[in-house]
Amino acid sequence: MPIDVESNLLIVDDLPENLLALEALIRGPGRAVYRATSAEEALALLLDHEFALAILDVQMPGMNGFELAELMRGTERTRHIPIIFVTAAGRDSNYAFQGYESGAVDFLYKPLDPHAVTSKVNVFVDLHCHRKALRHEMDALAVANRKQEELVQQLRHTQRELERAVRMRDDFMSMVSHELRTPLNTLYLETQLRQVHVSKGNLESFAADRLPAMIERDQRQIRNMVRLIDDMLDVTRMRRDALSIQPKPVDLAALARAVVEGLKQQAEAAGSAIALEAPRELPGVWDEFRIEQVLTNLLTNALRYGGGKPVEMVLRDLGGTAHITVRDQGIGIAPEDQERIFEQFERTDDSRKHAPGLGLGLYITRKIVCLHDGRIEVESRPGEGSLFHVELPLQAATKTATQVRT
Ligand SMILES: Nc1ncnc2c1ncn2[C@@H]1O[C@H](COP(=O)(O)OP(=O)(O)OP(=O)(O)O)[C@@H](O)[C@H]1O
Ligand SMILES: [Mg+2]
Repeated sequence: MPIDVESNLLIVDDLPENLLALEALIRGPGRAVYRATSAEEALALLLDHEFALAILDVQMPGMNGFELAELMRGTERTRHIPIIFVTAAGRDSNYAFQGYESGAVDFLYKPLDPHAVTSKVNVFVDLHCHRKALRHEMDALAVANRKQEELVQQLRHTQRELERAVRMRDDFMSMVSHELRTPLNTLYLETQLRQVHVSKGNLESFAADRLPAMIERDQRQIRNMVRLIDDMLDVTRMRRDALSIQPKPVDLAALARAVVEGLKQQAEAAGSAIALEAPRELPGVWDEFRIEQVLTNLLTNALRYGGGKPVEMVLRDLGGTAHITVRDQGIGIAPEDQERIFEQFERTDDSRKHAPGLGLGLYITRKIVCLHDGRIEVESRPGEGSLFHVELPLQAATKTATQVRT
C-alpha cells in the first residue's frame, strides 16, 4: 500500500520553547508541523487544515488541553483527529478523557522522553497514512466499479442491438422467401397446367385468342418478382448511402397519367377505381424513374389497403412546389403507427391481415422524396382511410443519399 501521503501535525503549547523542542522531535520527511500557542489559535488551524494528529498541552492559560479536546469532539471536521495530551507526570494522569469518538487518545508525560514521543507520533502518523491510502484505494475501486458497470450496460445494449439485427435479418429472409414464393408458385402451377395440356394434346389452350392473357399473367408474376428484388436492391443502396437521383425535365402530370394507366389491371383486381385530378401539364426537374416509384408505391398501397373503395390522386402546382395527394377510404392507420410505417420492414398489424408486403415501399418513397428536397406526410384514422401528401420542389438538384438524412 503506498503511504507517501503528506501528514499535518498540530502541536499546541503556550510556551514557544516547548513548541520548538517538540517540533524538533517530531518533524520529518512527509510531515508538516503546525504550531499554536493557544487553544483559539489551534482551533483556527484545525478549521483550515486536515491533521493526522494533534499534540495538546493540558495546562494552558485560558482554554486548557482537555477543553480544546472537548470542542474538537463536538465538531464533525475534527472529531476523528487522534490526540496526544502532554501533561506533567503524576498530575492529571488519572484524568480519563471520556467519549472521544476515534478512541485515539494517548498521553505523554513531562519531562518528555524523546523516544516515547517519536514512537507514539510514528504510530499515529503511520495509522493516518494507512487510512488515507485505504480511502484512496476505496475511491479508486468505486470509480473502477462504476466504469465496469457502465461497460456492462454498454455490452448489454450492444448485445440487444445485435439480437435485434439478427432477428431482423431472419424476419427479412423469411418475408422475402414468402413474398417471392407467391409469384413463383403461380408461375410453377401455370407451367404444370400447360404441361398437362401438351401431354394430352389439348392444344386449343394455346390458341391465338388465349395467348395474350396467358403472357400477361406470366408477365405480372415476373414483374412482381422484379419489383421485390428492385426494392431490396434499393434498400441495400440506401443503407450504404449509395442511392442517387438524376433530375431531368419531366412532366409530372403525364407521368401520373401513365402510372395510373399502368395500374389499371391492379385496380380492377382490387375492386377500386383510381381517379386522377391533375393540370394538363406540371413540368419540373426530377428523377423520372424515382418519382414514378413514389407514385406507384402510394397508389399500390391505396389499392392494397383501400378496402376496394375508390382511390383518388390529386396533383397541384403550388408555384415552386408540386403537391401530390393520394387518398383512399380503406383500413386507415392508427396515430401511433403513422411515423414508423416510413421505416424499413414496418407494417401495421391490421395491414398484415389484408395484404402481403415487405414494408419497404414507404421507406423507399420517403428517401426518394427527401433526395428531391421534398416532404411526405400522412393523415389518417383507423377505419376512415388515409391521405398521403407529398411536396416536391419543382427543381431538384442532383444528389446522393449521403447528402440526405431522413
Ligand atoms: N394507404 C394505406 N392505408 C393503410 N395502411 C397503409 C397505407 N399505406 C401504408 N400503410 C401501412 O404502412 C405499412 C408500410 O407500407 P409500405 O408501403 O412501406 O410496405 P408494404 O405495402 O407493407 O410492402 P411493400 O414493401 O410491398 O410496399 C403497410 O404495411 C401498412 O401497414
Ligand atoms: Mg407498399
